Amino acid sequence: MKILLTRPLHDFALMELRKRYDVEVHKGKVPMPKRLLLSRIADKDGLICYPYDRIDAEIMAAAKKLRAISTFSVGYDHIDTRAAAGRGIVVSYTPEVLTGATADLTMTLILDILRRASEGDRLIRSGRWKTILGPYEFLGSDLSGKTLGILGMGRIGTAVASRARAFGMKISYHSRSRLPASREKILGARYVTLDRLFRESDVISIHAPHTPETNEMVDMKILRKMKRSAYLVNTARGKIINERDLVVALRTGVIAGAALDVFQMEPTGPANPLTRLTNILITPHIGSATSETRRAMAEMAVRNLVLSLSGKKPVYQVRAG
Ligand code: DGY
Repeated sequence: MKILLTRPLHDFALMELRKRYDVEVHKGKVPMPKRLLLSRIADKDGLICYPYDRIDAEIMAAAKKLRAISTFSVGYDHIDTRAAAGRGIVVSYTPEVLTGATADLTMTLILDILRRASEGDRLIRSGRWKTILGPYEFLGSDLSGKTLGILGMGRIGTAVASRARAFGMKISYHSRSRLPASREKILGARYVTLDRLFRESDVISIHAPHTPETNEMVDMKILRKMKRSAYLVNTARGKIINERDLVVALRTGVIAGAALDVFQMEPTGPANPLTRLTNILITPHIGSATSETRRAMAEMAVRNLVLSLSGKKPVYQVRAG
């Protein structure tokens, strides 16, 4: 069987794949240009892809032999899962193994934005730290006693809740489905409506998947519900936020600040007006980027593909949407 990887993966993973398949690895431009992908996928049985590869119906139509798509990510909004289901292509993904790393980064962002750590770093590096800071200067906020509002209480949202509890935060959440009461009790989490979540939280952290329903759901209308002292954190998908509205909200004091690991368009850079604001912390989509986690993701992406191509159920199969 022939498989295609749209980007190189760890050596151990490639070795595993080469034991079983005829493996083609795209080593050029990232993401793999669509025309190239269309031509290279034509004779492949399996595909390993990444969140920035758009695997749409056109790609699948060109991939006459394709039986399995394994994405190196927990998000799968880049794959047309309905088209895949229609063609009997099994789609798999890598949740669970990256939960801890993504929750840790979320806490990093919450701590940093509330305590202004990166802002302080920029202050020193730019030579603007002139006097020893006094009792009213460069103040942040305590996490303890603040309400963290979690939008999307899946694996990552839950992991963030338990970490935030250890910092003394109160947890509210809104999700497609409510957790069982016993789980809510363990997490100390309170289910609230979307409206209350945005009105009452001191920090909102997004952990929902990107779907047609969540696309740009965080717009000016919902940002205006937030407290002026509140912060927005996003380690899920950039497209869940209307970035233009967020820029205005941050510029005009509708909310106090934001910390983002994900953006509408990635990679992003100085042309993005977000980068010119001071009350924002930005990181380059590194939620799962630890060596341990990326290794575990590679292992899982390989296992998923091998199982799917041998006609078995992958460890984590995407339900057709
Ligand atoms: C994911 O897994 O979906 C992350 O966003 C990419 O590492």
